[in-house]
Amino acid sequence: MQAELSVLRYDPERDEKPHWVTYRVESKPMDRVLDLLHRVKQEHDGSLTFRRSCAHGICGSDAMMINGRNRLACKIRVDQLGKKVSVAPLPGMKVIKDLVVDMEPFFDQYRSVMPYLVNDDPPPPAERLQSASDRERYDDTTKCILCAACTSACPSFWSQEDFVGPAAIVNAHRFIFDSRDQAHEERLEILADPNGVWRCRTIFNCTDACPRGIKITQAILEVSGAIVERQI
Ligand code: FES
Repeated sequence: MQAELSVLRYDPERDEKPHWVTYRVESKPMDRVLDLLHRVKQEHDGSLTFRRSCAHGICGSDAMMINGRNRLACKIRVDQLGKKVSVAPLPGMKVIKDLVVDMEPFFDQYRSVMPYLVNDDPPPPAERLQSASDRERYDDTTKCILCAACTSACPSFWSQEDFVGPAAIVNAHRFIFDSRDQAHEERLEILADPNGVWRCRTIFNCTDACPRGIKITQAILEVSGAIVERQI
């Protein structure tokens, strides 16, 4: 079949503002949006710019807005969308070119929550063990692939760029509730900031956007609950 792929294109060296360009491309039933983008680049316009790496939903580099919703281009099939597909860069983020956005502010927010294990005890002979139930406590938030689909779907992030954002909170959650970690107090302090968890309005856009199905709003509420408990 033929699919109609509309791409919101923008080259800051040539264009005054973003504009839609529509391509007609051959499409097989099991093609993913990423396959269509490759076909446009190979057969129509080699200057089309987008990120991709693994092509299997692992690296998180091809998150974009597809038919009005943040998704991974490598995970969504054309037959799930119909013959007309629109693709735009992630909303609320500075566009570098076409579908490539500046991820640095996003990673700055990620780094600000200390997304690594802190444990100053002398290392044991083997790994630092924990029980299965302790591991289960933060299992959901280990699934994050840092694609930014959640943060860039959040209206609080659109209106307040200093908001740390759902993805950073998810990655803080992963360590705050890890029984082996010793820096959860510090992380809770960071997230108690006015630009931390309190900017969340429980709109659930982040949860809807997550390609890994992480219960992001629930994780944010668990972190804010831990902050309140700590203050009490
Ligand atoms: S290309 Fe890696 S997640 Fe899609």
